[in-house]
Amino acid sequence: MSDPTHSMKVLVIGSGGREHSLCWKIGKSPLVSEVICAPGNAGIGDVARIAPVEATDLDGLIALAEAERPGLVLIGPEDPLAAGLADRMRDAGFRVFGPGAEGAQLEASKAFSKDLIERHRIPTATARSFDRSGQAKGYLEGCTTWPQVVKADGLAAGKGVYICQDLAEAKVAVDAIMEEGRHGAAGSKILIEEFLVGEEASVFAITDGDAVLVLEPVQDHKQAYDGDEGPNTGGMGVYSPVPELSKRIYKQIEQHVLLPSIHMLRREKIAFRGVLFIGLMLTEGGPRVIEYNVRFGDPECQALVRRLKSDIVPILIATADGTLSEIESPEWDADTCVGVVAAAEGYPEAPRKGDEISGLEEAAAVEGVEIFHAGTKLHRNLDGHEEVVTNGGRVLTITAMGATTDLARERAYEAYGKIRYDGKFCRTDIGRRREARKETTSQA
Ligand code: AMP
Ligand code: GLY
Repeated sequence: MSDPTHSMKVLVIGSGGREHSLCWKIGKSPLVSEVICAPGNAGIGDVARIAPVEATDLDGLIALAEAERPGLVLIGPEDPLAAGLADRMRDAGFRVFGPGAEGAQLEASKAFSKDLIERHRIPTATARSFDRSGQAKGYLEGCTTWPQVVKADGLAAGKGVYICQDLAEAKVAVDAIMEEGRHGAAGSKILIEEFLVGEEASVFAITDGDAVLVLEPVQDHKQAYDGDEGPNTGGMGVYSPVPELSKRIYKQIEQHVLLPSIHMLRREKIAFRGVLFIGLMLTEGGPRVIEYNVRFGDPECQALVRRLKSDIVPILIATADGTLSEIESPEWDADTCVGVVAAAEGYPEAPRKGDEISGLEEAAAVEGVEIFHAGTKLHRNLDGHEEVVTNGGRVLTITAMGATTDLARERAYEAYGKIRYDGKFCRTDIGRRREARKETTSQA
């Protein structure tokens, strides 16, 4: 007889460190018999069965679900969410964690979300949207305060934002987005936004559109190099909790930004079952929204699942079923998690690929360490032997738990040091970004 507490398959869509950490955590649940991941990566194969269907192949994913009959489908990345995968899965009768296409517009169109934010009077940067470059330039000519922020409307993998110091720079940005098509269809519309001054922070909440579960504070590091220098990336490292974000400020964010955002979804009748991830600027006048995302952050997710002590599966199911209010508050580990991204030379512009990775087992043996793969794949050698090779800009997230941030950092970097591949690099200041930045400025 099958064990009724151990009988559910879960299908996870995606292939990053975020999805590896989710598969790892979901697989620990006594409710789950098997985790299936499409398309996955070399590391996800250790904790889930890989199904070789791309995250953008909606028909293929529906066919996969029909064949596997999972009790829960979790959609990791924004692209399939924006393309309506959650709606199609729900229409086919599956239980889904992740918003439908309408909810995903909060991330997929900055003009759409700005319009809602303004109508519901949620604090944000004032902005104007344009669908013709001439009008945008005309508006810029009248601007008396600089910088101004020029943004492509659609999904641009974090690269569609230009902070422009003067009119000339702003016109170049408008042309790049609207005339030269640098971000494709994402640039058919633009936003021109007031420049906000302050520290960036973010807040993650799980919601079924009604009840809200606020997740623990977590902070990533967006710039490629130490001291917040260099180009913007998807995220080079993470830590949680965030000691510099006081309880008072976190409460303020909840009250002035997060709860009004959930209220906005309710009032707009946008069915939303998944993660609302709000990027914020902590300005002198209080927290203001920079952007909404509709999924877990990567690498933020990796640190959150390491600190989550409770079973994640009942939370995901209750969100998908719209019964989140019935769930008890989850338990979190009071220890700190630090996650260091091991990247590939050339990231974010043009990362090298295909380099053999070794030392993974030794690294994973360091106390408190768990390694999540992102850009990796299995490659069969000429002699038939399989090896793990790099296959993307962010290769691994090396997470470590520790009673203090220093201990967690030490463990994560010790494990990082044991991993070998050509072109490996990381930031050395994960978890002490602000101190590192102060040191750089005081030296200058
Ligand atoms: P986004 O893709 O909207 O998160 O923007 C990427 C980055 O650009 C953010 O993380 C901020 O560092 C910066 N940014 C975006 N909008 C503004 C703004 N209005 N003022 C200042 N910085 C901004
Ligand atoms: N780490 C930021 C993001 O996932 O968008």
